[in-house]
This record gives sequence, C-alpha cells and structure tokens, in this order.
Amino acid sequence: MNKNIAILGTQWGDEGKGKIVDCLTKDAAYVVRCQGGHNAGHTLVVNGEKIILHLIPSGLLHENVIGVIANGVVISPSALIEEIKMLEKHKIFIKNRLYISNSAPLILKYHIKMDIAREKKLGFHAIGTTGRGIGPAYEDKIARRALRVSDLKDEKRLSERLEKIVDYYNHQLVSFYKQKPVDYKKILKDLLPSIDLIQDMIQDTTHILHTAIKDNKKIVFEGAQGSFLDIDHGTYPYVTSSNTTIGGICSGTGVGPKHLHCIIGITKAYSTRVGNGPFPTELFNNIDEHFSKKGNEFGSTTGRKRRTGWLDAVSLCRAVKLNSVSSLCVTKLDVLDGLKEIKICTSYKDVSTSEKILTVNTINHWKNIKPIYETYPGWNKKTLGIKTFENLPCEAKNYLKRIESITKVPVDIISTGPERSDIIFLNNF
Ligand code: GDP
Ligand code: IMO
Ligand code: MG
Repeated sequence: MNKNIAILGTQWGDEGKGKIVDCLTKDAAYVVRCQGGHNAGHTLVVNGEKIILHLIPSGLLHENVIGVIANGVVISPSALIEEIKMLEKHKIFIKNRLYISNSAPLILKYHIKMDIAREKKLGFHAIGTTGRGIGPAYEDKIARRALRVSDLKDEKRLSERLEKIVDYYNHQLVSFYKQKPVDYKKILKDLLPSIDLIQDMIQDTTHILHTAIKDNKKIVFEGAQGSFLDIDHGTYPYVTSSNTTIGGICSGTGVGPKHLHCIIGITKAYSTRVGNGPFPTELFNNIDEHFSKKGNEFGSTTGRKRRTGWLDAVSLCRAVKLNSVSSLCVTKLDVLDGLKEIKICTSYKDVSTSEKILTVNTINHWKNIKPIYETYPGWNKKTLGIKTFENLPCEAKNYLKRIESITKVPVDIISTGPERSDIIFLNNF
C-alpha cells in the first residue's frame, strides 16, 4: 500500500516545508494544499534556480504529479493566475494538472483592503499579517457570507452577491476605517478574465482525493504556516486565521485521519518567526546575525527580516502532540555550521513566580517567560550539502540525537542546504 504523507510546520512557519514537499512528491501522484492562502511562501531550489510558491502546491515541479488546492484554502484568483504565469516563464506547465475545490472561499480586493486597514488601526498592537486578506476571507467563511469558487460559474449570481458583500465591506472601510470604498463593478471586471482561465480546474476535490485513495495513489498533503500560528493552538491573537495543525488537513480536504499514514513535522535546527507575537527563545545578538545572514532569514512572501532564536524544544514537544507527528525533519542544519556552541531550550521559567514550566499552552503569560537552555558543543566543519548521516560531524549527530531523545520522535529527514539534493533520508517514505 502506498503511504500518504502529511507535512506540517512545527514552529511559526518557514521551516522549509516547500523543499521537503518537493523532495517527497517525486514518487507521489497528488500534492494537496489544505489551508491558508497566498500568505504562504514555499521556496524550492532546483539546479540553482529558485522558485517561490504561494498558493500552488510545491510538488508540481514534478511533471507527473497532479496538484489540488482543496476546500480549506482561501483562494485569490488573481494571485493564482499570476503564479501559473510565473511557472510558465520557468517552463513549468500546470494548467491541465491542477484542480481547485469548488467550495474554497475567494479572497477579493476588499479582504486585502480590510486586512491592511485593520493592521494600520492596531498600530503598535498589529499582528504583522502578510496583508494578503487572509483573516477577512476566513471571517467571511465562518460568517457564512463568503463567495466561493463555485460562485464563479454563474456570472449573474456572482454579480448580485458581490454587490451585497461590497456594500457590507464599504460600510466598514469608509465609516470605521476612513478608507476609500471599493467598486464592485471594477472587482467583477477584474475577475472575469481569471474566471475563464480557471474554469476547467474547478472540481469537487474531495471526490478526486477519495478516488485517488481508492486507486491506491500516493498523496502528499502540504501544510502551510506552522503550529504556533494555528488559530486555536497558536500564540493567539498573533496567529493566522486557519488551523495549521493536523485537523486543518482533514477539514481542509475532506480526507479523514486514517488516510494520513506518515505525519512529518518540519522543524528548523533553530527558530524563526516573522510578524509580531511571543517568541521565547528570540535572540538580539551576534547569533541572530549569524542565523539571519547564513540562513538568509528574510520572508519569502513579504521580504521582512525574520526574527531568530535557538530551537525551542518545549514548543516542539507541544507541536509533536498537537499533530501526532510520527517523524521529524530537521532543516537548515548547515546554518549551525561554525557556531562554537549550540543551545536548545528545554524548559521555561516564569520569572514572576520562579516556577519551572515544562509545557507550553496558548494562555501562558509570555511576557514573564524566560527560556532555560541546555548547551552543546558546535562544529567547525561544513555540513552544507552532506548527503549521508555518517558524514555529519559527530557534534551534529549528537545534536540531532538530543532532539530525538527530548521529543521521543525519530529524526527521519535532515536538510543540509536549500537545493533539492541537499538532503539525508533515514527512512524510506
Ligand atoms: P516554508 O514556508 O516552510 O516552505 O519555508 P520558506 O521557503 O519560507 O523558508 C525556508 C528557506 O530556507 C528558503 O529560503 C529555503 O530555500 C531555505 N532552506 C530550506 N532548507 C534549507 C536547508 O537545509 N539549508 C539552508 N541553508 N536553507 C534551506
Ligand atoms: P509559510 O507557509 C511565516 C504570519 C504572518 C503574521 C501571521 C498572520 O511560508 O510557512 P496572515 O497574513 O496569515 O493573517 O498573518 O501569520 N504568517 C506566516 N509566517 N510563514 C508563513 O507561511 C506565514 N503565513 C502567515 O507573518 O505573523
Ligand atoms: Mg515560507
């Protein structure tokens, strides 16, 4: 039996999910985006050529693979078209092998305006969103007023519903946020060309996936964002608006948990976060500079500098539980090359009570939390591009083994560089 794979971020996103999805999709039939939208930025580097995907599943660089953007994703038609065209420039043609769920909610211009206006109004307390309209689009879905992909099939109905929704948004944009209104006719006019382009891709993707399961076709489910950006389990309110943990894959596709055979949690060998919110192991010193430069830690979607810190094993253990992680994949091991010593946060201390904290939960009073570290020797050798475990420096092996012993999950994949080929597999997926 083929084993389906779910790939999820265990931190605050940007763990290197895209690269791993690309590697693991080589032998798959389908690759599926399940939640989030074009707030994601998944980077692939193949033969020195870099491609960043926001909405299109990362495995589609393999030409025999079929891509699915499932019902849990919020879809901006213009972002989708732009990305299809970008891929065509790279001679990657996907129009005939990409399906879009008919029940996925749409992101339209008013969502983006609202996202940006809200952030502006929040000022110092802003979430630091990607400004892609993600939050407002998911609000529409939950409020049962969203326009969905299926609405693109009936222009008259689309026009009527759009007029009403735009009216609702303009009331808030103008009266409360003091912004200019949007024009529903202009939105409709801009939308029409993209409807023609994506019309044939619109499908019942849940049915497609269940047919694939029946036919024993291998499926890779591609998570976006990371566990601590999850709307329920993350560092609320500094989170995204979808379930980035395992449940998001099931509700976001209509595929139940018994079909997820391997759940791979991706963690960087250190931590990063882009946007605002709690980050217990954050660094502001020369180590931050090291991670930033050597790891090129700038957002793939917005170009913002990512905040950096040591690996936080307290939150990693929580992510393992939240997602039923069966394998870990440690990425960016090479970024630790040259560091004299390396730290892992194994507990927190509440400085107001001196209490030792061994678990993270979403209502921790983050302000008072200080990380407690274990320190290990670093290595002065290059791991960049190493392809076998045996060839890693013994300090690097010990570091990986410590991650296994703390989390009680095997490290089955190690990524040693941005290229597709910079990878070590210790398990045959
Ligand atoms: P994603 O959102 O989880 O897919 O991750 P991003 O693509 O936003 O960010 C990960 C960044 O690290 C990208 O620039 C990747 O090319 C890069 N990357 C992935 N794996 C490795 C690795 O093992 N080593 C190094 N140096 N870079 C990596
Ligand atoms: P990938 O899939 C890192 C962050 C934003 C912000 C918060 C809310 O590439 O790992 P949103 O626009 O979603 O309402 O922003 O979530 N964020 C990400 N951070 N990687 C991502 O995706 C992210 N997607 C959203 O920076 O803090
Ligand atoms: Mg990213």
